[in-house]
Amino acid sequence: MKFLVFFCAFFFIACYASDEQVAFVNIGSVNGTDSSGVNYQKTFYLPRYFRTTWMLARAMCKSYDLEFASADTLDEATTLVSFVKNNSGYVYVTALIGGLTLTPKSKTDWYWVNSGNKVAYDIPWYVTQPNNYEGKEQCLGIGRGYKDKFDFHDYKCMGEDLTFICQKIEY
Ligand SMILES: *[C@@H]1O[C@H](CO)[C@@H](O)[C@H](O)[C@H]1NC(C)=O
Ligand SMILES: *[C@@H]1O[C@H](CO)[C@@H](O)[C@H](O)[C@H]1NC(C)=O
Repeated sequence: MKFLVFFCAFFFIACYASDEQVAFVNIGSVNGTDSSGVNYQKTFYLPRYFRTTWMLARAMCKSYDLEFASADTLDEATTLVSFVKNNSGYVYVTALIGGLTLTPKSKTDWYWVNSGNKVAYDIPWYVTQPNNYEGKEQCLGIGRGYKDKFDFHDYKCMGEDLTFICQKIEY
């Protein structure tokens, strides 16, 4: 017992904070309404210390009881871009999110991996995107562009380890 008190005093975070608070930065919340009219609050998280590929990002989010992020409305997408920009110190190249396409270079035929829903608005792409660079870019991210402006880009699903965004939805 004595040891536990000592341990907790010195490792406060390890004892009282949840895993996700230790491993992730809360970058902001939005309120929304789902397709059945139920209101939710969604909070977005960026990992503090790790990067991975799009393919593994979903499993990484899930291992912290989070989901791979989606932006379900244009409003949510715009707000998420501002959250990422505001936390760009944690972002290496891009902040991957859970969208993908089977139609490379399509601007509109994109889907959310969590829900299977089609992206229901005009994605705010960077001007030259999506470009399916090297023929392998079928996954979605909010990337850092010219002059530190953040916009939507397509990325490789299995490429370099990159930053990714998780979300938690509360009803
Ligand atoms: C979302 O709704 C909750 C509860 O009504 C409120 O406390 C919170 O401030 C809202 N958040 C945003 C980002 O609007
Ligand atoms: C940006 O970050 C600051 C400091 O954490 C915060 O007060 C502000 O609300 C954030 N703005 C946005 C758009 O998230």
